[in-house]
Amino acid sequence: MICGAEITFLIAAILSLNFELCFCSCARAEYEIDGECCPMCAPGNRVYRHCTADISTTCVSCHDSTFIDAPNGLRDCFSCTVCDPGQGLRVKTPCTRSSDTVCEPLDEHYCTDQHRGSCILAEKHTNCSTGQYIKHKGTAFKDTECAECADGTFSDGSFQTCQTHSKCEDLGLTEIKAGTLSSDAECGNKSPAGLIPGIIVSIIIIVAVAMAVTVIMLRCGSLTCRKNKQKTTKKSDNHIYLLCITRTHKDDLK
Ligand SMILES: *[C@@H]1O[C@H](CO)[C@@H](O)[C@H](O)[C@H]1NC(C)=O
Repeated sequence: MICGAEITFLIAAILSLNFELCFCSCARAEYEIDGECCPMCAPGNRVYRHCTADISTTCVSCHDSTFIDAPNGLRDCFSCTVCDPGQGLRVKTPCTRSSDTVCEPLDEHYCTDQHRGSCILAEKHTNCSTGQYIKHKGTAFKDTECAECADGTFSDGSFQTCQTHSKCEDLGLTEIKAGTLSSDAECGNKSPAGLIPGIIVSIIIIVAVAMAVTVIMLRCGSLTCRKNKQKTTKKSDNHIYLLCITRTHKDDLK
């Protein structure tokens, strides 16, 4: 006769056997299908036909652009990841039948999101603004770090350190434009010192020549009159007289 306790034990034993069948029935390199344990396919391969009592699993290789990276009982391979330049990515390691593509950031990009050793999203390195210098250059995993220039220095944003403003005086020049945080001081020749006297001298010479010409013209006029009246010429007027010949001739003809 079977008593209640024995029935309970039996049910527990069957349940625990079932439990084992569901979760631990197949060996490590096997997979379970319809209550049967079948040998797994190697990485790079998929199941073509499940095993039967007589025949082992039939495996076939993954075809182009697909992969499986572990021993498996799968009917289909996975599609290889595409490294999208639009996401700032390029191929680091190409896809094989047994490993997915590994992507990395494009030049001047850094990875903002990663999955299993592959970058899945990258962004462009920040450009430092004018008045800032590059404190730390960007890498494949870190953005550029920028910092402000100190007073008396400048940077266009592409410098690793801010440059000191040029000291025009030390170069023997004058400062035309003061330096800013983004631009150097502008120096020019010390010309104003020599240029102004030059202009003054030129003006004096021009005025002197103009006055001399006027004087000669006036004297020609008076000489012509005197000549007409007296027909005599002072010795000192001879050289001026020569300049006046044309005019005198004209007057004599009248
Ligand atoms: C930084 O500057 C470069 C060169 O001028 C440009 O190609 C790039 O798009 C800029 N980056 C950003 C984030 O604006």
